[in-house]
Amino acid sequence: MTRTQTILDKQQRYLWPNHILYYTDPLPLDHGEGMHVWDVEGNPYLDFFGGILTTSVGHNRPEVTQAAQEQTAKLIHSSTLYPHEHHVNLAEKLAEITPGNLQVSYFTTSGTDADETAVVLARAYTGYQEVIALRHGYSGRSAMGMSLTGHASWRIGGTQIIGIKHALNPYCYRCPLKMSYPGCDVACAQDVEDVIKTTTSGRIAAFLAEPIQGVGGFITPPPEYFKIVTEIIRNYGGLFIADEVQTGFGRTGDKWFGIEHWQVEPDIMTMAKGIANGFPLGNTITTSEIAEAMSGQGLTISTFGGNPVSLAASLATIDVMKKEADPAHVAKVGNRLRSGLERLQEKYPVIGDVRGMGLIQGIEMVKDRESKEPATEAINQLFEECKTLGLLIGKGGLHGNSVRIAPPLTATETDIDKALEIFDIAFSRVQEGM
Ligand SMILES: Cc1ncc(COP(=O)(O)O)c(C=O)c1O
Repeated sequence: MTRTQTILDKQQRYLWPNHILYYTDPLPLDHGEGMHVWDVEGNPYLDFFGGILTTSVGHNRPEVTQAAQEQTAKLIHSSTLYPHEHHVNLAEKLAEITPGNLQVSYFTTSGTDADETAVVLARAYTGYQEVIALRHGYSGRSAMGMSLTGHASWRIGGTQIIGIKHALNPYCYRCPLKMSYPGCDVACAQDVEDVIKTTTSGRIAAFLAEPIQGVGGFITPPPEYFKIVTEIIRNYGGLFIADEVQTGFGRTGDKWFGIEHWQVEPDIMTMAKGIANGFPLGNTITTSEIAEAMSGQGLTISTFGGNPVSLAASLATIDVMKKEADPAHVAKVGNRLRSGLERLQEKYPVIGDVRGMGLIQGIEMVKDRESKEPATEAINQLFEECKTLGLLIGKGGLHGNSVRIAPPLTATETDIDKALEIFDIAFSRVQEGM
């Protein structure tokens, strides 16, 4: 029996059967370095999904590993009950790079936890309960996370936290109002007001949205969308929570956080994934005034929140980003990736849409461009072809037909060109069979 077979055999016997495993023959990974991971049989792969947009400065980046190893040897656990040097230093660093008046942090362990913390805060500050989220959004796997999420398939067992309503999302390729931008005047943004007026008590705690919808398939709104929506929600008493779990830390290029492209200032921002290059860490950052609302409201702790090892890793990750993978670098290599993908779109009709910013680029695959019918078999074939050629990618979208391309931010032009070369071969094989 090979190592792969042994692992897959035990996976089947001892793990829940609902684990989502990519590929017909799932891929047990052994080690990683920079842009590459190796499977247990020794085959290398260029990782253009970066974990799940998590290894922001590449796998096993020596500076991050060293910082984590040094902290591990000193103190692994402290909880939020004790102040820690890394805790305050990371909070200070985040206050410097986040927009507006976002100044004070609460560290947890995941994106789900960060979003949940944000909603609790918004409710405490406003005194209102209801929350507006977007269709096609994704917010995590807790009861609250699933309720905020706008995809049936990610809401296992019909879990519902009451008081959460979903507005139309700005999905231009499949406009929910069957209109076209810019003639539509961004009519979808007005739906937020309709939802507030017709399905809530008329006063809301918050509107939570991703600057680019991640799991939704990298759906990118028109530039005016968030300005219109922010004005609406503030008129109804709500705070704006920007979920930067996927779009944060320079991923979108040019700016440290995705929401900065849309020229609005969030009241609360959540982050996780790429914050610590793979170590578990979530954060909810807000203004000093809003955070004050939590004082005297009751007790809260996070046992693993602000774990010193994750914090050390995060501090080192941000240092590496500043030196080698800052938002300007991401914009440069992201533009190269985008142009390459648009060239492929001209060649292969199966590519219906190319969208995204920086190093968060999506491709929506369709059976034909007229009907836009989701090409679910074709995307499965693309996955297998890319794997055979040594390239790992991600998947998303309501119909599972969107390719998610999000390499580590340290990707070079050579890495981008290599991935584009593999895409060209893989798409030609997929197109041939259609
Ligand atoms: C935008 C967004 N928010 C929240 C989450 C939940 O994060 P986690 O899986 O770390 O709990 C995710 C995870 O994919 C996400 O993409």
